[in-house]
Amino acid sequence: MKSIVILISGRGSNMEAIVRAAIPGVRIAAVISNRPDAAGLAFARAHDIPVAVVDHKAFADRAGFDAALAAEIDARGADLVVLAGFMRVLTEDFVRRYEGRLLNIHPSLLPAFPGLHTHRHALASGVRVHGATVHYVTATLDCGPVVIQAVVPVLPGDDEARLAARVLEQEHRIYPQAIRWFAEGRLGFDPSGRVRISDEPVSSSGCIVPPVEA
Ligand code: GAR
Repeated sequence: MKSIVILISGRGSNMEAIVRAAIPGVRIAAVISNRPDAAGLAFARAHDIPVAVVDHKAFADRAGFDAALAAEIDARGADLVVLAGFMRVLTEDFVRRYEGRLLNIHPSLLPAFPGLHTHRHALASGVRVHGATVHYVTATLDCGPVVIQAVVPVLPGDDEARLAARVLEQEHRIYPQAIRWFAEGRLGFDPSGRVRISDEPVSSSGCIVPPVEA
């Protein structure tokens, strides 16, 4: 059983999709928010998932906040930390601490449109396709080895809201998929930039696990 901790800042619809996916071999150890008023906390509480708030406003600097956040995560014993609409820039120390077990979802086809207002930028740039990316987090914002992407068309008459809704539907599909692969031991993280998704489960040493004889 793998324990995951999900970090949110607001609505929490990706967290909700992950919870509803009920991924075999995954236990959601906690949902943690940096905002006490994050709407997603109510859903987590209603589903008996332990919740915690580490309010970034209570800390003088990023390092202090990240240290408190890491203490909260480690107290839950997370095998994987899942950023799901977590809108804080993390320090390099934090990212290093969780290297290879820190995932993020970003509403664009990275490396296109990092940062905020991705749908606005996609519309303004005239691209014909847009989408979402699940990636391992590295020290560079909205960067890091790509695990899975989903592509949607940009349609005539789209505005930000319509395009965002089309992308969000795909986010809710690909984030549980990425976590399923993780739980199955099929995700290989390579800090140099590529993610290997194997057809067979891998052991922690990276060796293919032989099938168990009946
Ligand atoms: C999602 O669209 C997610 O991709 C985005 O915030 C939204 C959160 O929605 N994340 C980022 O922009 C991170 N750079 P949710 O709270 O309903 O999951």
